[in-house]
Amino acid sequence: MEFSGELLSWFRENGRVLPWRGKKNAYYTWLSEIMLQQTRVEAVKGYFFRFTERFPDIKSLAFAEEEEVLKLWEGLGYYSRARNLHKGAKLLVEKFDGKMPKDYADIRSIPGIGEYTAAAISSIVFGEKRPAVDGNLLRIFSRCELYEGDILSKEAKFAAFQYFQEKMRDFPGDFNEALMDLGATVCLPKGKIDCASCPISFFCKAHRGGNPEDYPKRRTK
Ligand code: ADE
Repeated sequence: MEFSGELLSWFRENGRVLPWRGKKNAYYTWLSEIMLQQTRVEAVKGYFFRFTERFPDIKSLAFAEEEEVLKLWEGLGYYSRARNLHKGAKLLVEKFDGKMPKDYADIRSIPGIGEYTAAAISSIVFGEKRPAVDGNLLRIFSRCELYEGDILSKEAKFAAFQYFQEKMRDFPGDFNEALMDLGATVCLPKGKIDCASCPISFFCKAHRGGNPEDYPKRRTK
């Protein structure tokens, strides 16, 4: 099998079951991606349940008082995330009939949605071939391709985007979430790497060369 097939069948067997997954619900995807930006999956779950119970969709959020939105965010921190989410919901009601637009540039124009979050929404909800490049994808890419440049550079981000986009086939959203899970459970930072469990080790130049611990690299040589 090729890269995408191996990755997706691993994901079907080993992917994490998370409350916002598998629903193609743009609001759930957006909310969870914002909550997950600075907070761990386990901590997010409870907030996600309470938030969606009180605000089940974009419209109910848009018509809420900011105070109540912030109250539900209490303890998660980085409150600008909640303010932007609220602003974003209002904008969607004003301009897009309370629905998440399909167009990438429109998604990107929503307050608080950067390239990563826009790519996650676009792929998970609309099936667009856009890798959601975060630290996990960068680490995986650097090992697969023996990327020698600074992993924090914009060149690295672009190279990772190209690399994964070229490998995406039928389920770009699952492909992205599979890489997120692989990065969180298998292709871990130095010292905790588990190549024996990796579905794409065959395609990984660092694994094949025996030196995954040497990647990612921080500075250009
Ligand atoms: N971290 C950020 N987004 C995620 C997602 N959709 N699934 C798992 N972990 C994530």
